[in-house]
Amino acid sequence: MTIPQFDLSWLSDPTVFAVNRLPAHSDHRFLVAGQEPRQSLDGRWRFHYSPSLAARPAEFWQPDADLSAFRSIRVPGHIETQGCGQIQYINTLYPWDGHRALTPPHFSPEDCAVGSYVLDFDLDPALRTGRVCLSFQGVERAFSCWCNGRFLGYSEDSFTPAEFDLTGCVRPTGNRLCVEVYQHCSASWLEDQDFFRFFGIFRPVFLYAKPDTHLEDVWLQAGLDRDGRTGTLAPRLKTSCADPACGEECTVRCTVTAPGGAVVHAGELALQPAAPDPACPGWMVWQAPELRLPDIRPWSHEDPALYDVSLTLLGADGRLIETCLCQAGFRRIEMADGLLQLNGGRLLFNGVNRHEWNPETGRAIGRADMVRAIETFRRNNINAVRTCHYPNQSLWYELCDQNGIYVIDETNMETHGTWARPGEGAAGAVPGSRPEWLACVLDRARSMLERDKNHPSVLLWSCGNESYAGDDILAMSRLFHELDPTRPVHYEGIFQARREAANGAPYDPAWEATSDLESQMYTDPRDIRAYLESTPEKPIIQCEYMHDMGNSLGGMESYIALTEEFPQCQGGFIWDYMDQALWHTDPLGRRTLGYGGDFGERPTDYAFCANGIVFADGTEKPAMQEVRYWYDRPDRRARFDADNAAARIRSANALAAEAEARARADAAAPDLQIVQGDGNLGVRGPGFAVLFSYTEGGPVSLRRADGQEWLYRAPRPVFWRAATENDKGCGFPLRSGAWLAAEATARCTSHQLEECGPRGVTIAYTFTCPAVPGMAATLRYTVTPGGVLRLQASYQGAPGLPELPCFGVRLTTAAPADQVAWTGLSGETYPDRWKGGQFGHWQEAPHLAGYLVPQDCGCHVQTQAVTLRRTDGTELTACMAGDAFAFSALPHTALELEAADHKEDLGPAPHTHLCLYAAMRGVGGINTWGADVEPAYHVSGEADHSLTVDLPLR
Ligand code: GAL
Repeated sequence: MTIPQFDLSWLSDPTVFAVNRLPAHSDHRFLVAGQEPRQSLDGRWRFHYSPSLAARPAEFWQPDADLSAFRSIRVPGHIETQGCGQIQYINTLYPWDGHRALTPPHFSPEDCAVGSYVLDFDLDPALRTGRVCLSFQGVERAFSCWCNGRFLGYSEDSFTPAEFDLTGCVRPTGNRLCVEVYQHCSASWLEDQDFFRFFGIFRPVFLYAKPDTHLEDVWLQAGLDRDGRTGTLAPRLKTSCADPACGEECTVRCTVTAPGGAVVHAGELALQPAAPDPACPGWMVWQAPELRLPDIRPWSHEDPALYDVSLTLLGADGRLIETCLCQAGFRRIEMADGLLQLNGGRLLFNGVNRHEWNPETGRAIGRADMVRAIETFRRNNINAVRTCHYPNQSLWYELCDQNGIYVIDETNMETHGTWARPGEGAAGAVPGSRPEWLACVLDRARSMLERDKNHPSVLLWSCGNESYAGDDILAMSRLFHELDPTRPVHYEGIFQARREAANGAPYDPAWEATSDLESQMYTDPRDIRAYLESTPEKPIIQCEYMHDMGNSLGGMESYIALTEEFPQCQGGFIWDYMDQALWHTDPLGRRTLGYGGDFGERPTDYAFCANGIVFADGTEKPAMQEVRYWYDRPDRRARFDADNAAARIRSANALAAEAEARARADAAAPDLQIVQGDGNLGVRGPGFAVLFSYTEGGPVSLRRADGQEWLYRAPRPVFWRAATENDKGCGFPLRSGAWLAAEATARCTSHQLEECGPRGVTIAYTFTCPAVPGMAATLRYTVTPGGVLRLQASYQGAPGLPELPCFGVRLTTAAPADQVAWTGLSGETYPDRWKGGQFGHWQEAPHLAGYLVPQDCGCHVQTQAVTLRRTDGTELTACMAGDAFAFSALPHTALELEAADHKEDLGPAPHTHLCLYAAMRGVGGINTWGADVEPAYHVSGEADHSLTVDLPLR
């Protein structure tokens, strides 16, 4: 039965989520007479924005409506990124929090903006015969549509296609399509994902024409026999007929072509008699017996072999009606022997969570965005993706099929804000076990499954994210199993429910059956070990781990080690792929990447949207080399480690030889010339001069033969790094804020001329700070006749002193260095994130890494030598004299970074700050809301730390 009119009450009724919408089906393509009868409607549409339901032009769909107030908008695209409404990023809270007191399923009509879209179009000639359907691939969050004044239907579920039948109301030319998109509806409660909240037609829209008889749905059901070599194919087809009376005749020829072009099967499918499909009125279901194809190449990450399958539909008279083009990958995914197995072997997810994102267009992304992500995956050994937290565009699954990327396909559902309520517990969880939400959430699951079921890359169905547990989600899991017995089901929320149950929240052990795997997020490696040691029934994955917010991803080794020790530890998915930030114009008119709050929205969760292993512009974050390393095969990692170790030794030997040569030169060099002034001590030799100040706490001038001044001010001890997101998340600045005071206020309180003669001068400056009683740090300088400045920075720990973020010495150059070159590990490395660095000689311009919120960055651990250079050829080097050290060479100090919200706030830099570190705290990565850096990577305030480097002055 078709319903003739839109009814506003549907918006607030969770039992109404689709009206006149066509049944979901596979995303296969088809040709009629050699052409794809498809017409894109993407482009510019006429558009009107209304801030509330009441303000909308309710009759705009009438053929004679006055559209003079309409402007234009790009489809696909969000409304908010095209100048209307409020861009808002928020995590777990609902976007109306603090503005409206709402309970499910209600929304506020006053705050429900409406986008009214109009497109006038003619049908392409190829679509002028046959039945015409309209497909919306994604409309956030609910919409209704009309064609030529006739109501077509209504749909929710932003992230799966909604299709409507236009037959009978579309004309060859002069059509008008009207779409009314609602920012809110009852389903707003189901779409509380941690992301920018948008609405509008944000994925492609197209028309397609179906021949009189049409394969509506194709399910190849490709599998792999236990022999590992025989592919199986059991196509199940669903047809519709223009004339429902003639649905009984159907002949289908099937051709299977192997990757190299060899035809491995060709013949007519021996279809069993059709039966009506109870779920899809008017459709007939046809099952073909299983085809067995010997000697196929199984599909996997290592060899994503895809077979072309063409299905040719012939009429009763032998006439070719249409040809469906599909691809099959023969693989078998199953739970067996307590493991998740692919093709009979243990599966290991080296995965990442990925939101669809583009910094200009938000979630309205295109092929280029997806191809770039896939290339980044391949380059960095990422073999799996979770489509957090909604089904992606179909093209993404095609690319995953082609590139052997394993997919956890996730239903569009997150209801975090209904159950993670301070003091309220999970009793209010939606959907929970509430009957009014059941059909709606099952519909979401079915729409995803029906569309994506042919993709070999899809290994697991996921019931959504952070929606607690309950009978409704259990029913969703059962539906997945019933519709698709070949794939296991994933859901993490039961883990959360188990935890909340300890606080008295509703919990039924039957809900455990929702997930075939134990899926957790952000679990401390020690707790994963405890789970694994309990001889569990289900294997475990981390559906989210390594929270890569800002400068993070430390300690990945602990997780990887568990996957190597325990077969049941089957990997995880880094949170997440890309920083979600949007280009915008800031209040000073600058084009910057904006994060939560920058758009004037409140409430917001600020920079929590930026947790990617790539920046919002798609470039790799410094931590990517670590991902590449840990996601590599163990044998390749071992080879990489061995090469690094050898290179490190070769380089240390070469540096030792240079140091010996300098010592010999010292012995042969003429005496130092020393000038004792009232406030300064001058030390000169052939081609160098150092001026030590007594009042400034160190050398104030350092010149080599070229005469260039290297020092802007006397070097200072370093006690602070600009807090990273993980530092802030675990309260480190609170615990250790005394060191921030020390960084800002420590003073040189004494100096001592330890040696002052023609064969050497040594002067030591001691720094103390009233904010950290008991602390003392010394910077000791020795100048030798041959022209070496030896710098020793030492920290004396004392009982009770708080943990340090770092300790070292900072040299600030008189003018910015153009280049920093070092002998050590590639990229940015920290004590808990360096294994992916390759030992060698590296160089770059001193710069801040692109973390959205300025924070400590640019550290290089295990460095043997570092050189600052200017374009005029002058340079200054520090070499290890003893142990390797860590350094950073940045245009800004820790205090400057600490105070900035965006790097644009920092302005042009007149100096380079070379920090040489004796100790540096790890960056951590377990999470950004409480977990500390692993203990091995803390820097004790009670222990001593020291560093010695030589600065050759000749
Ligand atoms: C998880 C959630 C993600 C994201 C992450 C924090 O709990 O599933 O969507 O919010 O935390 O960045």
